[in-house]
Amino acid sequence: MSKHKVELAVAKLAKMIIDAEQVVVLTGAGISTESGIPDFRSPGGVWDKWAPEIYGNIESFLKDPKKFWEMAQKIAPNIFKAKPNPAHYALAELEKMDLIKAIITQNVDGLHQKAGSIVVYEIHGNIERFICFTCSASYPKGQVIRKLKKEKHYPPICDICSAPLKPSAVLFGEPPPKFEYYQSHSLAEKTNLMIVAGSSLEVAPVNQLPVITLKNGGKFVILNDQPTYMDDRADLVIIGKLGTILPLILAKIKELLNIKSD
Ligand code: APR
Ligand code: ZN
Repeated sequence: MSKHKVELAVAKLAKMIIDAEQVVVLTGAGISTESGIPDFRSPGGVWDKWAPEIYGNIESFLKDPKKFWEMAQKIAPNIFKAKPNPAHYALAELEKMDLIKAIITQNVDGLHQKAGSIVVYEIHGNIERFICFTCSASYPKGQVIRKLKKEKHYPPICDICSAPLKPSAVLFGEPPPKFEYYQSHSLAEKTNLMIVAGSSLEVAPVNQLPVITLKNGGKFVILNDQPTYMDDRADLVIIGKLGTILPLILAKIKELLNIKSD
């Protein structure tokens, strides 16, 4: 997209956000790549290196948890040390300005909350707790990390029944967390504008949320660094890096509302 075309599209979206009664943002792994966390489906992404049916699937976890933990040991350090980037901060500021009602995120990295966003629905769970499938025990992340550092035993096992533990992130074949799913579904129904930022929209049921917004008369915008298969259903598509686009949108909104940029 040429610089001029991006500027026109940014101005159009800034106005759409100001005019909309309710704006919801659905984010994917693409908003965290500029924080150093690889996404899943770009070339070189997580699923390029680790076959999801073996490393990211609940059936394969229950058969052989070591596979999942082999991948987790490699990708977790990037997630733990990651910091929010300008895209996360721009969304947090738009929430503070009461211009976005909620973020629905497919990410488990917690970077929206670290950037200051309050209303965040983690529809694929997160890695703040580790759960036991056998006896439903649930441990805070810190306890498990300390245990792993001390015992160096993978996979970490449950203190109560010695079954292998799994982070509270949703694997393929698991349902999304009930509360987050129903909240996201009702937000999608009621919102006038859903902005999808940094997602390939390949994974159901999350990729149906913008369709629900469209069906209920709302508008749907995609911000992404490459085309998605839902672009033709969107009211507006801006192709570019979120770390650049979202701060541009925030700046344009402040200009239109005569708010001093700090
Ligand atoms: N700026 C804009 N877009 C970006 C950037 C960036 N800096 N970096 C990557 N992207 C785009 C990629 O081009 C891709 O289209 O973000 C999109 C990320 O898509 P995926 O890697 O498929 O991630 P996501 O859509 O979040 O995947 C959904 O799939 O594997 C499961 O549970 C996992 O939550 C994940 C879900
Ligand atoms: Zn247990």
